Amino acid sequence: MKGLFITFEGGEGTGKSTQIKLLEEYLKEKGEDVVTSKEPGGTEVGLEIRKLLVCGDKDKFDATAEALLYFADRHIHLTKKIWPAMEKGAIVLSDRFADSTMAYQYYGYNKRVSKETLNTLYDIAVGQFKPDLTIILDIDPEKGLARSFAKAKNMDVKELRFEGRDLEFHHNLRNGFLEIAKAEPERCVVLNADKTIEDLHTDIIKVVEEKLGL
Ligand code: TMP
Repeated sequence: MKGLFITFEGGEGTGKSTQIKLLEEYLKEKGEDVVTSKEPGGTEVGLEIRKLLVCGDKDKFDATAEALLYFADRHIHLTKKIWPAMEKGAIVLSDRFADSTMAYQYYGYNKRVSKETLNTLYDIAVGQFKPDLTIILDIDPEKGLARSFAKAKNMDVKELRFEGRDLEFHHNLRNGFLEIAKAEPERCVVLNADKTIEDLHTDIIKVVEEKLGL
């Protein structure tokens, strides 16, 4: 496949969407063809799935049902948007991908769905494909959640299903992302997100240059 696939991961309120916008601008200025997207909800059908997942009562699905819905969204996202864009040579930046399922549905929920199940779903929905680079933005969950609630105040639809989980969930989640990064150091880079927007952007550019030569 031509093109590149860069994913951004992390808990709530790490500043992923802001950083993706800044990286998009930076890469476009360098003349790259860039497509930005997100999970869940990177496609029209995916937005319907997103609504089911991020709104409403926190206990309306169990971890298995959630994982199935996230992988359904992901399969549609890959086949309808990510792969076609990459075939044309674009750099695709995605706000979350499969590491979020492992972090939220496995580590966050204290392993209520097994790693084997999630790996099987990955094989079915994604196959052998992987991101070229994954940037994990890391922050103390208490700081991240405060940022996330402040942002939600200005949103029409309140996407707070996951913010409703307790602090232990968010600490498990953070540790999960760090474990994922440790297991795949060639693909994943962890960056401290507790800094200014400009400083974090500088760190991200450095990683993208070093890892992908962009
Ligand atoms: P967002 O906050 O990045 O928009 O993501 C929406 C929510 O969905 C967020 O709380 C994280 C959660 N999520 C999962 O639980 N599993 C997944 O596989 C993905 C992609 C997101």
